[in-house]
Amino acid sequence: MIKIPVAEPLLGKEELENVIKAVNSGWISSKGEFIEKFEKEFAKYCGVKYGVSTSNGTTALHLALTALGIKEGDEVIIPDLTFIATANAVTYCGARPVFVDSRPEYWCINPEKIEEKITPRTRAIIPVHLYGHPCDMDVIMDIAKKYGLFVIEDAAEAHGAEYKGKKVGSFGDISCFSFYGNKIITTGEGGMCLTDNEELAERMRILKDHGMNPNKRYWHDVIGFNYRMTNIQAAIGLAQLQKIDKFIEKKRQIARWYENGLKELAEKEMITLHPEMKWAKCVYWMYSILVEDKFGMRRDELMKKLEENGIETRPFFYPMHTMPPYKTNEKFRVSEELARKGINLPSAIFLDEEKVEMITKSIRG
Ligand SMILES: Cc1ncc(COP(=O)(O)O)c(C=O)c1O
Repeated sequence: MIKIPVAEPLLGKEELENVIKAVNSGWISSKGEFIEKFEKEFAKYCGVKYGVSTSNGTTALHLALTALGIKEGDEVIIPDLTFIATANAVTYCGARPVFVDSRPEYWCINPEKIEEKITPRTRAIIPVHLYGHPCDMDVIMDIAKKYGLFVIEDAAEAHGAEYKGKKVGSFGDISCFSFYGNKIITTGEGGMCLTDNEELAERMRILKDHGMNPNKRYWHDVIGFNYRMTNIQAAIGLAQLQKIDKFIEKKRQIARWYENGLKELAEKEMITLHPEMKWAKCVYWMYSILVEDKFGMRRDELMKKLEENGIETRPFFYPMHTMPPYKTNEKFRVSEELARKGINLPSAIFLDEEKVEMITKSIRG
């Protein structure tokens, strides 16, 4: 029986009050006061001008790529180690995701390996701020500038994380967030695209609403989608946003408790702790460790043992190039190793020191 889940949203009376307001107003679909407020406030929080809410993080990515004109025959560079949605959004456009290996020190895309994957067909790079740790954005932005590529940040797992003191989501042409129930803040299902470019924001607003001309109802100049967020979702999101700094502080506190309980294993190189580079503020979306070969027990055996102790964990994502839709024989040494060794540990906001100690004891023992 699972007693400690890997993630659980923290919802309170503020969320409930907002939902009641939305329901009482009758605006329960994709019009209503909360949508614009949530978009504005979230964009402001990230230091970006415009927010365009979506139905989830995957549709946010697809919307962003479509708005940038990514189409059949194009190539988009993404990390080999990410959630499948990053690759699929590229595929939905008829384009091809091109995989790049990870950086061993912080698990995100290795910027030094991007250039060798650029071809005349490359149109964009999607850095993914994996498990709450930012990518090395300066290097990525320089490469993008040099080759004239778009940058779409996949910040689904990293709300509030910072790169050199600046929030992720504020570097690329567009950035995409997810508000799924296990994310830093949630709207149940939901997503958002952020951009400083007014024209891009307008294009995304049109595309997410069936491509309808904003000045001529039921006139469609382009083929769009229904990727709209509901007012109820935005009502929850707005209440969550008021608490985001507290949530992040708590995530970082949980990380310190884990580090404390696992430091001896880390010193003996039996496990590797969740990294945080000097230039980064990691939000530890899911506190993660690598189970090294010296640990004496395989990653999956450890996960099974923890499960028997009522502790839920998750294995790292499988590298994209190993799964049937994207299978290649190319070697990605780092992402393969991370995927083999990585575990996401319980990281819900409600965790206390005692529970984390119980988990680390279980790993140690
Ligand atoms: C890196 C990454 N990108 C995209 C997504 C897709 O978000 P959603 O599940 O809201 O569609 C997720 C999440 O779940 C994710 O982890």
